[in-house]
This record gives sequence, structure tokens and C-alpha cells, in this order.
Amino acid sequence: MTSRPQYIDLLNDIRLQEARAGVFLEAWAKKTNNKDLKECLSFVAAREYSHGDIFERRVKELGSPTVDIDDPEFDEKVRVVTSDISDAEKIAWLKESRLRQPAPTVRERYEAAMEDDSVDPLTRSLLRWFTDVENDSVEAMSKVYAQIENSG
Ligand SMILES: [Fe+2]
Repeated sequence: MTSRPQYIDLLNDIRLQEARAGVFLEAWAKKTNNKDLKECLSFVAAREYSHGDIFERRVKELGSPTVDIDDPEFDEKVRVVTSDISDAEKIAWLKESRLRQPAPTVRERYEAAMEDDSVDPLTRSLLRWFTDVENDSVEAMSKVYAQIENSG
């Protein structure tokens, strides 16, 4: 039996979250007629898919199989972002759904893992880089969201 670090579950959760974010952001990008939003969503979706792949690889590098876990909110998210409601309404819906996330969130967990000495250095380094990219994505999305919210 190989020893399986406990934080593998976190890496697997990140993998799932990122791959799903790629799917729904891309679906929204295809639906919207707002050029800036479309561009930003496509840009961030590509990053999310890539993060999904990178964390999938890291789980495997650490000797564990990836595990698929259902996200009961996912189908609803895709349904909302591909629906005919306005982009402003979609943004409001997504912000509300974020507040419903159970604690600790995946983000809270990986922020803790970055500081955790029991996590291997390469994974911590990966998590730091990932956090920087996620923050950059959040900043880019927030700018476009604000344009849309203020134009309504
Ligand atoms: Fe992400």
C-alpha cells in the first residue's frame, strides 16, 4: 500500500472545481453578446481547464488515482449561464451562489495548505502559483462584472 497524503483530496477537489469552472465559463462565453465579457470568460475558461489538467497530473504524480465527485450545483450553474436572463442577472446569481458555499471553501483549504509544512514543497509551490493566477483572473472578471453592473 502506498502512503497517501491527506491533502490529495484537496488537490482532487481543485481539479474538479477548475475543470467545471472551465465548462461553465466557456458555455457563458458562447452565449453572451457582450464582447468584453466574452473575451474575459474565454480567457479565464482556458486557465481553468489548464488548472484542472495540472492538478489532475499532480494527484497522479503523488501516486493517487483521481476521484470523481458530483457537484449538485453544477448543472444548475450551466443552466443559468446559458439561459436568456441578462448578464447582470447571471453575475448576481453567481455572487449569491458563492455565498451559499459550505465552509471551509476550496480556496480557504488551499490557502491553508500553502502554509502547511506537511504538504510537500512542490505542491505548495504549485498552490502559490495557482493562487496568483486565480487572483489575476478574479481581478479581470471583477472589472468586466463592474462594467456590466454599472451599465444596467
Ligand atoms: Fe479557478
